[in-house]
Amino acid sequence: MKKIIFIITIFCFLVSLSIQAQDIIPKPNSYKTNGEVFKLTQGVHIYYSGDLKEMAGFLAKSLSLPTGWDFAIKKSKSIKDRSIFISTDNSKNIEKEGYELSVKNNSVKIVGSSQAGVLNGIQTLLQMLPIEIYNKKRQNNINWAITGAEISDAPLYQWRGIMLDVSRYFYDKDYVLHLIDMMAMYKMNVLHLHLIDDAGWRLEIKKYPKLTSVGAWRGEGHERVGGYYTQEDIKEIVTYASLRNIDVIPEIEIPAHTLAAISAYPWLSCTEKKHVVPTQHFISRDLYCAGKESTFEFLENVFKETFELFPSKYLHIGGDEAKYDRWIDCKHCQARKKKLGLASEKELQVYFTKRVQKIVAKYGKTIVGWDEIIERGLDDKAVGMVWHDQNKAIYGAKNGHDLVMALTEHCYFDVAESNIPGEVKAATWLKPISLEKVYQLDPMVEGLDEKYRSQVLGAHATLWSDQFIHGTILQEITPINENRSEKYFDYLTFPRMAALAEVCWTPRDLQSWDDFENRMKSHYPRLSEAGYGYRVPQPKLIKKNKIDGGFEIVLENMVDGAEIRYSTDGTPANVYSNVYKNQITVKKLNQFQAITVINRHHFSLPLYFPEKFDKYKKYGTLVAEWNSNNIQGKGFKEFEINATGKINQNGKYELSFWYIEGSNGLDIKNIEVFKNNIKIAEDSHPAFTKTNSKNNIYSFEIDNYETGAAYTIKANIRGNFGNDSKGVVFLKRK
Ligand code: ACM
Ligand code: ZN
Repeated sequence: MKKIIFIITIFCFLVSLSIQAQDIIPKPNSYKTNGEVFKLTQGVHIYYSGDLKEMAGFLAKSLSLPTGWDFAIKKSKSIKDRSIFISTDNSKNIEKEGYELSVKNNSVKIVGSSQAGVLNGIQTLLQMLPIEIYNKKRQNNINWAITGAEISDAPLYQWRGIMLDVSRYFYDKDYVLHLIDMMAMYKMNVLHLHLIDDAGWRLEIKKYPKLTSVGAWRGEGHERVGGYYTQEDIKEIVTYASLRNIDVIPEIEIPAHTLAAISAYPWLSCTEKKHVVPTQHFISRDLYCAGKESTFEFLENVFKETFELFPSKYLHIGGDEAKYDRWIDCKHCQARKKKLGLASEKELQVYFTKRVQKIVAKYGKTIVGWDEIIERGLDDKAVGMVWHDQNKAIYGAKNGHDLVMALTEHCYFDVAESNIPGEVKAATWLKPISLEKVYQLDPMVEGLDEKYRSQVLGAHATLWSDQFIHGTILQEITPINENRSEKYFDYLTFPRMAALAEVCWTPRDLQSWDDFENRMKSHYPRLSEAGYGYRVPQPKLIKKNKIDGGFEIVLENMVDGAEIRYSTDGTPANVYSNVYKNQITVKKLNQFQAITVINRHHFSLPLYFPEKFDKYKKYGTLVAEWNSNNIQGKGFKEFEINATGKINQNGKYELSFWYIEGSNGLDIKNIEVFKNNIKIAEDSHPAFTKTNSKNNIYSFEIDNYETGAAYTIKANIRGNFGNDSKGVVFLKRK
C-alpha cells in the first residue's frame, strides 16, 4: 500500500513538473519530457563553443542575479558533467533561429543554428526554471529544478515585431532597453523605432543639428517636453538588442508626418513658412516638398548617418496618410509633376517613394513602408507593412513585395483590450482588441494564395503614443503622472505581445487559444518578478445558471497565485471584497462583480454583466445612458456623448434617445457633432422622449471622416418637469 502511495505521489509530482514545463510561450515545435531533472546549484559551470562567449555571459548573468551564485564560464568542445553547454551546429540542419534543448539529470545542452538560435534556447530554459528566475534580486530558498525534456524548436515566421512610437512621446534609452528585455523573453526579434513624426524628431543627425535642438522639443516654459537619442545612445541600444537577437529598424518617415523636421528647417516644406512643433495631435498637411532637389539631398544625408548607426538591412520610410494640399499649391511640386507628365499628386508621391527607394538601395538597404507605398507601385521589391486590410496584402504579394501584417484589428496595441469602464484611455477609433483577438491573427491572411507564403515575413504590433494618454491630446508630464506613458506601454503590451509571439512562432496546428490562456496563467507572475507592467485578466466566467431566485456563477482564476474577489450588492468589487472559492449564488446579475487581485495595488477590471438594452438594438449601438445626474436643475444642459470609434466612416447617421424609466421624460433641443472639437454637423428640432416617437431620432452626415480624430456629440437636454428620468442613446449608420 505504502509503495502504491509512494508511486502515486511521485507520479503526481512528475505531472505537476511537466505541466509547469509545458507553460512555455511561444509553444515549442516539439517538447518531450524524459523523466529526468536538472538541479541548478552553486558550482554548475557554463561551457560554450566557438564564439559564444558573450552569450554564455548573458546566460550566466541571467542565472546569477536571482540565484546569487557565480557561474564559471569556460570554452569547451564538448559537454561535461554538472554543466550547461551552449554551442552552434550548422551541420545538424537546425532551422534559422532554431535550437535543440536537452535537459538531463547531469547537464543541460543547447545547440542553436546560430547565436540567435542559442539565445532562443536560453529563453526557453529560463521559462522552464521557477518564476523567480526573472527577478533581478537574489531569491532565497528556491529549488532551482528544471524538468528534464528534449525540445526541438524554430520559428514559423522570421519577423516578430513591435513598433515603439518615440516621436509622439519620448521614451528614454532605459525604457527602450527595458522593452528589448520584454521582447527577448518571448523571442520577438524586430524593434521598429518610429523616430520621426509631426510631434518630434528623435535622432541626432550631426549635419542638421536643429533637427534635435528645435525638432525634438515642444511646448513652452515648464510645459516644454521632448528629448532625443544621441548617436551614442543608439549604438548602445543596437548593441544591447543585437545580443538579444533583436533587429532595430529605424523609421525616417516621408513625405508626411514630418512637421518636426519642417519646424527645424522650413526650407524642407513647400511654403517655407515657420512652424513650431505641435503640442496637440494632428496630422500636418505640410509635407516635404517633392519639387525641390534640396529635399532629396537632405534625406540622403540623413539616411547616411542613420545607416552608420543601424546595421539593419531595412529602413522604414513610413509613407502613410499624406494629404496633398501643399503640393497642389506649390510651384516646385507642380513643375516636377508637369515635367514628369504625372497625372496626380498621388503619382507625385509614387515618384517621391521611388526616388527614396533608389537612394536607400545605393547603401544596400531595403525599404519598409505602410501599405500605401506598395499599393501605388514601386520599381523594386519592398516590405509592405499591412495595416488597412487583407486586400492590401493580396495586392502587395501579387506585385512581388514582402509583407508584414500589422492589421489594425489584431495588431494596434494602442487600442485597449476592452471598453469596460476604468479601462485605460487609449485609441478609440477601433474596436477593442482583446488578447484572444490578437491570438486569432493568421499572418497568412484570408484570400492570400498559398504560393505567396514565402513573401509573408511575419507580424508586427504598433503602439501609437499619441493615442493612449489623453485620448487625442498629447500628454503633459507632471510629477504626478511621471512615466505614465511607459506604464501605459507595458499595460498595453502585456499580455498581448505574448499572444503575438506565439502567432508568429508556433506552427498553426499547435496553436490553441484555450491552451495559450492556460499557459499564460503562470506567465503573469513571471512578468511581476521581472518588474514588467501588464494588464491583469478578469476572472473567466465558466458557468452562469439561472436558478430559483437568482443565478449560480462559477469562475476561473486566470492568474497563478492571485485571488478572485467579488461583490453581489451592486457595489464595485475591490481588493477587500469577499474571496471567491467555489461556486457562488447571486440574486441579480447586474449587482454582481468580480476582479482578479494580484496584490492591493494590482488588480483587474471587473467581470460584470452590463445591461444590453437589446430591445433597442435596431437603432444601432449604445453610446450613452442618461439619468438624473445629467439633468440636474432647470434649463437645457449640454450632454456630451463620446462617439469616437462609433462614427467610423463617412455616411448618414442617426442618434436616437429612448426613455426607460422615471416619472419624467427628457426634452431635447438639438444635437451638435464635433470632430477634434470643431463643429461639423447639427440637427435642431425639439423632441420629448417619454412617448418614444420618431421625433427622438436626430440625423447628421459625416463626409470628411478622419482616422484617429476624436468625435463627440453634444445634445442639449433637460428633464421635462423633474429630473428622475433614465434612458439610453443609440447611434446607427444608415
Ligand atoms: C498608420 O496607422 N497610420 C500606419
Ligand atoms: Zn513643393
